[in-house]
Amino acid sequence: MKRTHHCGELQAENIDEEVVVNGWVQSTRDHGGVIFIDLRDRSGIVQCVFNPEIQPDAHTIAQEARNEWVLAVRGPVRRRPEGTENLKLDTGLVEVVGQRIEVLNAAKTPPFGVDDAEPEELTRLRYRYLDLRRPRMANNLKLRHEVTKSVREFFYAEGFYEVETPMLWKSTPEGAREFVVPSRLVPESFFVLPQSPQLCKQLLMVAGVEKYFQIARCFRDEDSRADRQPEFTQIDVEMSFVDQDDILDTTERMCAQIMKQSLGVDVPLPFPRYTYAEARARWGSDKPDTRFAMELVDVSDIVQNSGFKVFQNAVASGGQVKALNAPGCASYTRKDIDDLIGLSKQFGAKGIASWALGESEIKSQVAKFLTKEQMQGIFERVGAQTGDLVLAVADTPEVVAESLGRIRLEMGKRLEMIPDGAWDFHWVVDFPLFGWNDKEHRYDPMHHPFCAPNPDDIQLLKDGYNTDTEPGHRDHPWGKVRATLYDLVLNGYEIGGGSIRTHRRDLQELVFGAIGLDFDHAKERFGFLLEAFEYGAPPHGGIACGLDRIIAIMARSDSIRDVIAFPKTATFTCPLSGAPTPVDRKALDELHIATVPMAV
Ligand code: AMO
Ligand code: AMP
Repeated sequence: MKRTHHCGELQAENIDEEVVVNGWVQSTRDHGGVIFIDLRDRSGIVQCVFNPEIQPDAHTIAQEARNEWVLAVRGPVRRRPEGTENLKLDTGLVEVVGQRIEVLNAAKTPPFGVDDAEPEELTRLRYRYLDLRRPRMANNLKLRHEVTKSVREFFYAEGFYEVETPMLWKSTPEGAREFVVPSRLVPESFFVLPQSPQLCKQLLMVAGVEKYFQIARCFRDEDSRADRQPEFTQIDVEMSFVDQDDILDTTERMCAQIMKQSLGVDVPLPFPRYTYAEARARWGSDKPDTRFAMELVDVSDIVQNSGFKVFQNAVASGGQVKALNAPGCASYTRKDIDDLIGLSKQFGAKGIASWALGESEIKSQVAKFLTKEQMQGIFERVGAQTGDLVLAVADTPEVVAESLGRIRLEMGKRLEMIPDGAWDFHWVVDFPLFGWNDKEHRYDPMHHPFCAPNPDDIQLLKDGYNTDTEPGHRDHPWGKVRATLYDLVLNGYEIGGGSIRTHRRDLQELVFGAIGLDFDHAKERFGFLLEAFEYGAPPHGGIACGLDRIIAIMARSDSIRDVIAFPKTATFTCPLSGAPTPVDRKALDELHIATVPMAV
């Protein structure tokens, strides 16, 4: 009763062949004594028929079989009688005449059926092995396998070495909270799980590997979201003797290959590149969804002298006023607008000014503060017409981008402006090297401290040491230094990021200085990397792409959990295994660990 064919591959050309199929019972039907069993394996479903008059023994066993039992069925393939073909099944022209049947295993009644409406996610995760039998999830796993294979083939063909790096590692300067692993043999000391193989891949460049890649597992103890897991996978890449263009080009060709091989989609190369400043200005985001227009438009010059204090003050204090046009939304009610204001407030805005361009009148909370010409000026600039709704936010450029950018996404979704089946890959480049830390009044590295400044801005970096302006001020020259830092964006999601690294000590000292880190102090934190750099580090750079995110978008899933075999819940637990759990006291004693009960 060993399998000769997969269920899903049986076709008209197999008619009259004697076959053995193995699989799970998808459904059973009893039609006046004749029993039909749809048998499923990884490849698909085929119908098996058991007639009590022809094969009474097989029929008796078939009668007992229930959903999700595991069976082996032997018999000839025959054409289904005319009128009984099932065009919904790939194998719908044929059926297997069950002459022998063996129950390989029985099954308890499953908590949900493979064909049922999607169960609640907690139940799906609790019984993940059943959830993965559902066609949508089985397809996601298959897609993930295909994409991963395609990625590997791409890098092998390009002459990259695949190198594994340690899971037990030392704290790295990437920012997210780390998962800590106690060491038994070195009491009171701890490894951490790597947030990424960042430092290792740079060491591999010093080692002369030149072209490295790894499908690497990364661990970050940060808040879970639909597009974030504590444990996720990167396509991690590092290259020596290259510039930014080489890395972008390699990454683009890898993306094009996986899109072509896994989905049959041709994506045009090269991908568009937007500077960080342009992306923030036009779409209010550093990972803009450019599948639809609705750009943010600066109207500061029009309203700076209006009677509306909020607009006046924003512009006078170095801020701005930006607007966007929501076509056909003039009928929005007070409550609709209040909802949008609520959303904007979540992202730092103090409010939204709106103008509804009705047939006979313009409805606006701020109409009385603006002249007709000023309003007309705004409408013209955003391209608003009768029937449209214009929304504006006044604040610092950061808050305007953040809040109006979210409003843009929300309106794009509500107005169904996002075309189905669009694959919008693009780069955001020229990120600032430092981000302003408002709490501590200093600059922090935007990414990590080994990211190289744009060669054209190195003078600015040096100037920073000579100005009278306090470093603790956001107008300091360091705020304007651009990095050789790039993000890859697909359909509004950040799917990758990387940089050219600083490989020379002189430049590294300048960067450390700007973030208030002296070289000796830096040596304490990542001394082994700095030491390695003193033994002939080649110029190098790289990128890491979020494999889970790419596949989730390709699979059109809202959550990366749908493309990970065994993901964690939003609260970082695994309902299937029950992890995390307390461990034996003895194990803790060996590790010299005492636990302190939670205060309640
Ligand atoms: P970065 O931190 O930007 O860069 O990560 C690279 C990509 O990994 C994905 N990603 C995640 N996916 C799922 N869950 C998470 N919690 C998560 N965090 C990140 C994103 C992101 O774009 N070492 C650098 C890369 C480099 O400089 O070469 C790094 O890790 O898609
Ligand atoms: P208020 O004076 O706070 O009642 O605000 C009057 C109107 O202006 C309300 O509709 C607010 O939502 C809007 N508004 C307040 N602050 C801002 C701002 N910073 N940008 C745009 N509109 C605002």
